[in-house]
Amino acid sequence: MKKRITDYWMHRFLPRGVVLGMDLIIVGVTFALTYFLRFNLEWIHVDIGSMYMQMGLVSIVYLLMFLLFKPFSGIIRHTTFHDGMQIIKSTVAATALLLVFSSLLRTFPATRSFLMPYSVVIVQLFLVTFLLVAIRVGIKIVYNRMMAPPSGVPVAIFGAGSLGMTTLEVLKRNKRPNYRIVGFWDDLSSLKGKAIDGVKVIGGVDALDQMKEMGCQELVIAIHPKNLSAEVKTSIANKALELGMKVKEAPDSEEWIEGSFGAHQIREIKVESLLERSPIKVNMDSIANELAGAVVMVTGAAGSIGSEIVRQILPFEPKRLLIVDQAESALYDLQNEIKEKGYCSSFTPIVTDVTIGERMDQFFDKYRPTHVFHAAAYKHVPMMEEQPYEAIRVNIGSCRTMADLSVKYGVTKFVMVSTDKAVNPTNVMGASKRICEMYVQGLASQPEVKTQFVTTRFGNVLGSNGSVVPLFQRQIRMGGPVCVTHKEITRYFMTIPEACRLVLEAGFMGNGGEIYLFDMGSPVKIYDLAEKMIRLHGLVPNEDIQIKVVGLRQGEKLYEELLATKENTIPTHHEKIMVAKVRSVDFESVKKQIHEMLYQLNEDSETALVGRMKALVPEFISNNSIYSKLDQDSKKVVME
Ligand SMILES: NC(=O)c1ccc[n+]([C@@H]2O[C@H](COP(=O)([O-])OP(=O)(O)OC[C@H]3O[C@@H](n4cnc5c(N)ncnc54)[C@H](O)[C@@H]3O)[C@@H](O)[C@H]2O)c1
Repeated sequence: MKKRITDYWMHRFLPRGVVLGMDLIIVGVTFALTYFLRFNLEWIHVDIGSMYMQMGLVSIVYLLMFLLFKPFSGIIRHTTFHDGMQIIKSTVAATALLLVFSSLLRTFPATRSFLMPYSVVIVQLFLVTFLLVAIRVGIKIVYNRMMAPPSGVPVAIFGAGSLGMTTLEVLKRNKRPNYRIVGFWDDLSSLKGKAIDGVKVIGGVDALDQMKEMGCQELVIAIHPKNLSAEVKTSIANKALELGMKVKEAPDSEEWIEGSFGAHQIREIKVESLLERSPIKVNMDSIANELAGAVVMVTGAAGSIGSEIVRQILPFEPKRLLIVDQAESALYDLQNEIKEKGYCSSFTPIVTDVTIGERMDQFFDKYRPTHVFHAAAYKHVPMMEEQPYEAIRVNIGSCRTMADLSVKYGVTKFVMVSTDKAVNPTNVMGASKRICEMYVQGLASQPEVKTQFVTTRFGNVLGSNGSVVPLFQRQIRMGGPVCVTHKEITRYFMTIPEACRLVLEAGFMGNGGEIYLFDMGSPVKIYDLAEKMIRLHGLVPNEDIQIKVVGLRQGEKLYEELLATKENTIPTHHEKIMVAKVRSVDFESVKKQIHEMLYQLNEDSETALVGRMKALVPEFISNNSIYSKLDQDSKKVVME
């Protein structure tokens, strides 16, 4: 309603003639008022006929002065000091003329009816000037009040439950920036049209378009995750992004401090949460039972996967959590994060290189871990292709050290974090992980080995160090362009928390020796991901930030192969976890070859080292690599 009124007045101006007419009415009214005041409001003494004649004369004089100085020509709602001065000039000039007239008329008795008291003329001057200025200023103030845009960032809240109401309170209290809550959106139809603390519930998901119509610039999703499926949350956020709004989410109750939270905790939604599927259900009871009283060691704990495994294990409160990494600063950050969350006593950070057997032996001896999650590794394919030495030293060396120590110290469970690149490897990194898998699988098959060895394999993890999300983020921060290799390229993704939930679940499944694969969901178009990330920054793709298609890189596939198919896997009780069908390994031979490879590390050339890898993993066929030559040579040998 208010909007309609303001829109109406915004484009309408009073004609100058009307303003002049109104000014003359004010002149007439003030004259009559002054006249009656002059006679102490005693009507009996007033000669009404003479008063009308004098009023006529006064109006003519004022009209002439108004026409001369034109105080009616400005737009009233924009009255300025200049307009005020023109009013004063007109009224003073009119008063001066009227005083002159009055004194002249006194010499002509025939014109006595026009004779007006000097006091009336002078008092009217003040009254009319005051009223002409005051009315204009008043109109200007009222107009500005009505037309001024309401202050504060206009915000929509999705969720009118308890989290939504707390969010409303928090936003209302916040001063910098100041927020204006435009409305609630909620799918509970009984709430529609009701007001909560003066804020109306507009509608549900089907009424999201109204957010834009009502001028909302931001949307805060304030529903407890257990009451909102990941799919619905994603569709709400996508709609708001399409409408050009910023999308934020209220913190989960676990992050509240003393029953509430601050506006700073309402954070912008991450692209990872827009790709999240419904939360993976893991068997909390069995994990809790396993971890109760356990001493857990996580290697690569400062990395993307390792740190998330740590985060997910902490709430189970194992007896001790050993967080091991060689990256001192990143480990220090994780340590601080854990302390801030209030887990102070049960964890021990260890800065070390896990390939140093003697040092790791000391830690195993001191802390006697019962569960080991081995996520320390070098993972970048192009770098490891250039430095096979490091891939063998770190990936294979650390895995053998950790696995052997686990057997020596009677570790109950050893979980090796592997990758989909270990399947029919085409590069050194993938092959190094496949060799690790073979080693732990072989160890698991030894009757005297009590430790249960489990391998978990999965594909791209969204948002991990060096992955596409941080890369796009950097490109967006630099103002673009965001580089995508092909408009149609797709990839399977999992979020880090999703992958680690499955690592935990798989880690506590089975009897050892299994290689678990994860269902990676539906493929994601990288171009769409780029667009979404640009929108999440409040920018418009290809307007504010360009998306550049740079062409496929050598050996890059447009569509990635599915990691798990019915043919190459066996299902488990968990619908998202499968067991890979792999050939069994001759442990003694694998052990011997790995030993020789590590023994010869400083003696062999890198080509010779890669040759050793290929001998261990016959399915390792290099792709776009200087080591492709080795495959051709071996083919020749076979043919000869
Ligand atoms: N990120 C992914 O998309 C993804 C997908 C599937 C599998 N994986 C596997 O998960 C594992 C971890 O990957 P990430 O993404 O967490 O990598 P990351 O680089 O974030 O973390 C690896 C961590 O290991 C540590 N590390 C490396 N060598 C070490 C050593 N010798 N001693 C001690 N610490 C050492 C590093 O300092 C780093 O903190 C890798 O084996 C990788 O192949 C990752």
